[in-house]
Amino acid sequence: MDNRPIGVFDSGIGGLTVLKEIIEQLPGEDIVYLGDTARIPYGTRSKETVIKYVLESFEFLMSKNIKAIVIACNTASSLALKEARERFDIPILGVVEPGAKAAVGSTKNNTIGVIGTEGTINSGSYDKTIRELLPTAEIIGIPCPLFVPIVEEGWENTDVAYITAQKYLLELKEHNIDTLVLGCTHYPVLRYTIGKVLGDKVTLVNPAYETAKLTKNTLKELNLLNEKLDEGIYKYFVSDDPEKFKRIGGNLIRKQIGTVEKVELDI
Ligand code: DGL
Repeated sequence: MDNRPIGVFDSGIGGLTVLKEIIEQLPGEDIVYLGDTARIPYGTRSKETVIKYVLESFEFLMSKNIKAIVIACNTASSLALKEARERFDIPILGVVEPGAKAAVGSTKNNTIGVIGTEGTINSGSYDKTIRELLPTAEIIGIPCPLFVPIVEEGWENTDVAYITAQKYLLELKEHNIDTLVLGCTHYPVLRYTIGKVLGDKVTLVNPAYETAKLTKNTLKELNLLNEKLDEGIYKYFVSDDPEKFKRIGGNLIRKQIGTVEKVELDI
């Protein structure tokens, strides 16, 4: 048993979709959430910049006496997981490995779509991890940058979202994918609209859910679970305006967000 909190890191607000899954699967764990809202988006930045931001952010999380870190951000998981694991000596989990594994478990025709930010898709992280498990897989990756602002506006179930999804996902339909990885923190919120465009023969894989499952199994294996019965304590830190985080974040996970503190990460 280990009562220290878990650190959950994201480039901003989207990681709350991962936090929500962790809370559901590990209700007794205390959590320190850090969103680098001053430097979002990570999805359009270079690998070097993302690595720098992630390492700086983790220095802050480490000062909170955490026992493990979950990188909720797909872009950061794609570009900086290796460097973070080399630098910090605690278990660090990303969303790509569990998401890729679930996609391989789901596909029957070996044709998998992956959607994410430009950074995630261009890094080829999902392709590489899927092919390690299923070398014959055909993988079609499409960056869908407009999905992020659509979700942050709360427009996930509107015509705007539907038309945008139709345009982005057309190529995936033409390739006859049977599985789609929602490879960005915001995309699970668009699940309904994406499902409507692709039809019910395409299984949507949510890396957020898979990552929470892996987090639980990993903590159990390492004897790091917090087994207290009462609800966990959640602390939120951001690098820009806390009020904005509370407002948009609350909409995103349909849950009231408690106190949010502003911190400097680039020191
Ligand atoms: N959190 C990012 C991701 O999952 C999306 C937002 C950003 O570009 O930073 O890739």
